[in-house]
Amino acid sequence: MSLLKTSNFISANDVTDINALVAKALDYKANPFRDKTLGAGKRIGCLFLNPSMRTRLSTQIAAQNLGMEPIVFNVGSEGWQLEFEDEAIMSGTTSEHVKDAAPIMGKYFDILAIRTFPSLANKEDDYSELYINQFIKYAGIPVLSLESATLHPLQSLTDVITIRETLNEKPETRNQKPKVVLTWAPHVKPLPQCVANSFSQWMNAWGEVDFVITHPEDYELDPKFTGNATILHNQDEALKDADYVYVKNWSTYTDYAKIYNNDPSWMLTLDKLALTNNAKVMHCLPVRRNVELSDEVLDSPNSIVTQEAGNRVWAAQAVLSEMLGQLSS
Ligand code: CP
Repeated sequence: MSLLKTSNFISANDVTDINALVAKALDYKANPFRDKTLGAGKRIGCLFLNPSMRTRLSTQIAAQNLGMEPIVFNVGSEGWQLEFEDEAIMSGTTSEHVKDAAPIMGKYFDILAIRTFPSLANKEDDYSELYINQFIKYAGIPVLSLESATLHPLQSLTDVITIRETLNEKPETRNQKPKVVLTWAPHVKPLPQCVANSFSQWMNAWGEVDFVITHPEDYELDPKFTGNATILHNQDEALKDADYVYVKNWSTYTDYAKIYNNDPSWMLTLDKLALTNNAKVMHCLPVRRNVELSDEVLDSPNSIVTQEAGNRVWAAQAVLSEMLGQLSS
């Protein structure tokens, strides 16, 4: 049975069984070339409208492990500037409509993978997922999100995988749900809410953790993603007895894409880590050292950020394997 509900992978809502998908990813970690011919003769186009290191490389490696040919196209820096609004009068800076470009991608590739950040200028467009939905509408082939305007599903699947595989290093959590805290951190510029939204969505959908979110007032996330998580504005209180601390900055959601309070006391330091249950520290990367997290935390044995980034390959491989399975069924 497929672990994906639809031919696309855009959010946690596309997964039928998160634990089974995590198990599949960890199987690939143990045996990367188990399905090395599954994608033979198939091609994945990886379109980047925005910069990336981990997502770009891990997706290519995952595709190659399955025998697929990945082709990377940096649309944002090397392609024609795309127009996404239907019925637009294209007399401005955009050169090609997605309605014309996406069907061509559909002829060249079997799967289309896309990174499209939010504009952080138009909340309605961003939260309608205009860009990725236009690719889905016009490409005519399955679409894999490499991070969209509001979500980063491969990152969040990776985060579940990383929590699952490190749980046995925390025997004190064996008889209870581990406490996972998502904490806002300062940053020098307004960032999307994608990673925080997505992490919240996946923690809630997974349901195997006691999930707490902490941020300064005015940094509320979209309740559609935070669900029933406990939300605290006192970071010290939230961090108490945490087993995992996920650090991430995001700009404001309600009064969209602003930096209100950039209080440096929200940076995760060793003093704050001492409040936790010897928590493992996670971050999607890239990270601003000594702004979001201190050097001492990032370089401590509690930090599992490199392991987490390494797991991006297995998350992508598990999802691509499922998408390939749907292509052949
Ligand atoms: N975490 C993440 O998506 O990293 P990149 O932006 O480098 O792909």
